[in-house]
Amino acid sequence: MKIAVIQGPNLNMLGIREQNIYGPMKLEDIHAQMKNVAEQNGFEIEFFQSNLEGEIVDRIQECMGDSDAIIINPAAYTHTSIAIRDAISAVKLPTIEVHISNVHAREDFRSKSLIAPVCAGQIMGMGAFSYHLAMMGMMQILNEVKAMREQQAAAQVAQAQQQA
Ligand code: DQA
Repeated sequence: MKIAVIQGPNLNMLGIREQNIYGPMKLEDIHAQMKNVAEQNGFEIEFFQSNLEGEIVDRIQECMGDSDAIIINPAAYTHTSIAIRDAISAVKLPTIEVHISNVHAREDFRSKSLIAPVCAGQIMGMGAFSYHLAMMGMMQILNEVKAMREQQAAAQVAQAQQQA
């Protein structure tokens, strides 16, 4: 099963931008850690970062039929983007919203997420470790999905055998 990790604007500047808020880790280091966790647990993972809203919408749409789940930090678009929210809603994949900082402890305009209502969950305020927690949550969700699919397949086989 494959997890798509989507990173919004300015997250390519992690390690440089406002280290007092976002910490010292670079995006590539965060991704390397997530890749390790995914591989150790038998999941595929793909990473994407863009500063452009339309490119993020395109990437979310591409996840349909290609990925099983999305972990997204929409960054500033969290607070403004109906388009990203609609794309997540459209693809119907389990999605977790991540933030490095605790957006509720910052400016008022950051408290509102347009994305959260269409997500399975939201993790924030743990620094770069928020991504690790999102991985744990998503792997749990996908393991449950997998177990449900296996149960359904077994039930179908049993039904077919009964009818034969
Ligand atoms: C952020 C929080 C957003 O408000 C901000 O615009 C970001 C990063 C975070 O990870 O804490 O760029 O999503």
